[in-house]
Amino acid sequence: PMASGQLSRAEALACSGCRHACHVMLYCDTNTLLFGSIPIRHIVLMQMRFDGLLGFPGGFVNLSEESLEAGLGRELLEELGVAFQILEEDHVDSCFAPASSPASSTSPRLITHFYTKKMEEGQIRAVETAAVTTATDHGQEVLGMVRVPLHSTKGGGGLASFLSHSFVGNARFQLLHTLLRLHLVAPEELREALARSLK
Ligand code: APR
Ligand code: MG
Ligand code: MG
Repeated sequence: PMASGQLSRAEALACSGCRHACHVMLYCDTNTLLFGSIPIRHIVLMQMRFDGLLGFPGGFVNLSEESLEAGLGRELLEELGVAFQILEEDHVDSCFAPASSPASSTSPRLITHFYTKKMEEGQIRAVETAAVTTATDHGQEVLGMVRVPLHSTKGGGGLASFLSHSFVGNARFQLLHTLLRLHLVAPEELREALARSLK
């Protein structure tokens, strides 16, 4: 059964009166060690947005002009400066964004579509470089790419500290859900970081 607010891709596409936005988590494996001893294990990319919130790259898609994946590719070119081919098979889930204010109850509902794409470490590094050199949104809609720390330090730093920042929409949930689903962080470690982040 799907979590509340979730809908299938077909159901989501059938809502022509809805607004749609697509975002992606780009990630890779790595052998890099932090301080020469703590395995980084994976690089997971997020971004600092113009509104001061952390989120995933992507944005609004106009279904009357482009497919979900083509729209996501266009947003990624603007925000990351790299041409991507995101495929239907990279789609993870779609859900209704919760109505945030009384005013939004009269505007079309927003459906957010989430994708994940595994890359090579060199490709991730190339994205980080392009994001500050060729991306047209750099310094405007996107203030910088950030890597998510997946490790936990004894003092509660690392992932727990990262999770205590502010996130746009359901980006925080998408991050947690994906780290778990793709086995990028062990369930106990994730639970502990989550508990610490709420303190
Ligand atoms: N999960 C869920 N929702 C998200 C996520 C996420 N990870 N990231 C962003 N959103 C929401 C945002 O709150 C926003 O309402 O999806 C919507 C569109 O995503 P953005 O990435 O912000 O859209 P984008 O097309 O890249 O451009 C931002 O929107 O607010 C305007 O004028 C502003 O030009 C700007 C544009
Ligand atoms: Mg954008
Ligand atoms: Mg965006």
